[in-house]
Amino acid sequence: MAKLKSTFFCQNCGAQSPKWIGKCPSCNEWNTYVEELIQKTSTSSMLQKFSAKRINTPQRINEITFSEDQRINTFNDELNRVLGGGLVQGSLVLIGGEPGIGKSTLMLQVALKIKNAKILYVSGEESEQQIRMRAERIGIINTNCYILNETSTQNIFTHIESLAPDIVVIDSIQTLNTATIESSAGSISQIRECASEMNRYAKETNTPVFLIGHITKDGSIAGPKVLEHMVDTVLQFEGDRNHGYRILRSVKNRFGSTSELGIYEMQNSGLREVSNPSEILLSQRDENLSGVAIASTIEGLRPMLIETQALVSSAAYGTPQRSATGFDLRRLSMLLAVLEKRCGFKLGAKDVFLNIAGGIRVDDPAIDLAVVSAVLSSGEDIPIDTKICFAAEVGLSGEIRPVNRIDQRITEAEKLGFEKVIISKYNQKGLDLSKSSIQIISVRKMEEVFNLLFG
Ligand code: TYD
Ligand code: MG
Repeated sequence: MAKLKSTFFCQNCGAQSPKWIGKCPSCNEWNTYVEELIQKTSTSSMLQKFSAKRINTPQRINEITFSEDQRINTFNDELNRVLGGGLVQGSLVLIGGEPGIGKSTLMLQVALKIKNAKILYVSGEESEQQIRMRAERIGIINTNCYILNETSTQNIFTHIESLAPDIVVIDSIQTLNTATIESSAGSISQIRECASEMNRYAKETNTPVFLIGHITKDGSIAGPKVLEHMVDTVLQFEGDRNHGYRILRSVKNRFGSTSELGIYEMQNSGLREVSNPSEILLSQRDENLSGVAIASTIEGLRPMLIETQALVSSAAYGTPQRSATGFDLRRLSMLLAVLEKRCGFKLGAKDVFLNIAGGIRVDDPAIDLAVVSAVLSSGEDIPIDTKICFAAEVGLSGEIRPVNRIDQRITEAEKLGFEKVIISKYNQKGLDLSKSSIQIISVRKMEEVFNLLFG
């Protein structure tokens, strides 16, 4: 006989409580607890296949066999790179991103491109016809790719058993529901139970499973902090919807580095892999414009040159505006304060707008010096030579601080035809300057940069 049991779950972080509470003790959010019914039934026979606990015996670590070439090539270089060199057998990969960013397109494209494996693409969001239309748009048809429109995990496992796919894609985890849990699809307990069923299936049959997950307003994967613990790899797909570029970041990866990232461009016929990011991030221009500076940054493990654009103008209204796209606004305020205090640059009555070209968000602190130089250039209305680029962090006292992997940044700048690169004096140690044809200018203080550019 089924026993009905209900529990309260925090919809923000997934914490559990036997009674309703106003403020979540684990994430401190208010009014996030919702009652969910959990039905404890004996699991159906289909599920038991994947939920039955195998009894494992302890093994000596040196006797456990493994092989590195178990990784599956996804025929998508950027995805392979982010996964750490290919898809690991039996791994559970969560792909998160805002609606409309291109998660379904990316996964369908991968499903259509892998030729030597049977792929099951389960969609709870779109019908088979809609997916077929999307495939037509992408322009590849793969007879090994099976599409299933289904949301019940029991039915999905029935199909999986008869089809025996090599790779499974679930679009999306929020639409799945399992009969063992009473609450509605998309609730925390459903998401958690469905993901753990998928996890058991992946591990027991050694089949890789991709889960697509939606993202909440604040940017975390909806509901499931719990999900992040459960899966092997979390990839985040992000970008500015008004721009074509998309970045696939690895947030967690049990089988590779989390500093990797892949870059795509959304086109009419699907996502194009961008293997040379610098070329697209520098806007083409012939004339010298003020307020533009180029930074040599490293995102993930890849160096790329990014254009920063600033506009400084007199504030028309009382409070000056500061606005930044692709850059942390608080960091911009800090840099402006440094300019004000250390360079005597009066910005108190000025509006400052900052834009990182290409709609890309940059976290690398090495972009600081380019940001500051772009602001100075716009303020003075003097263009910076287009052959100069920057790679340094700016400290609170106006000192130019060193950044990591400086040689990689310099090499990339040199490769793209820059003639001068401005770096921190403290980065100069151990740098082999004999080989490079690019002129390296090292500075210690913000004032030196100002004199160098506009003095
Ligand atoms: P989609 O993969 O449906 O996003 P998600 O699954 O993350 O919600 O992507 C939808 C967007 O991508 C939509 O705005 C249309 C655009 N798009 C293209 O520009 N070109 C294409 O070839 C495809 C398939 C989609
Ligand atoms: Mg989708």
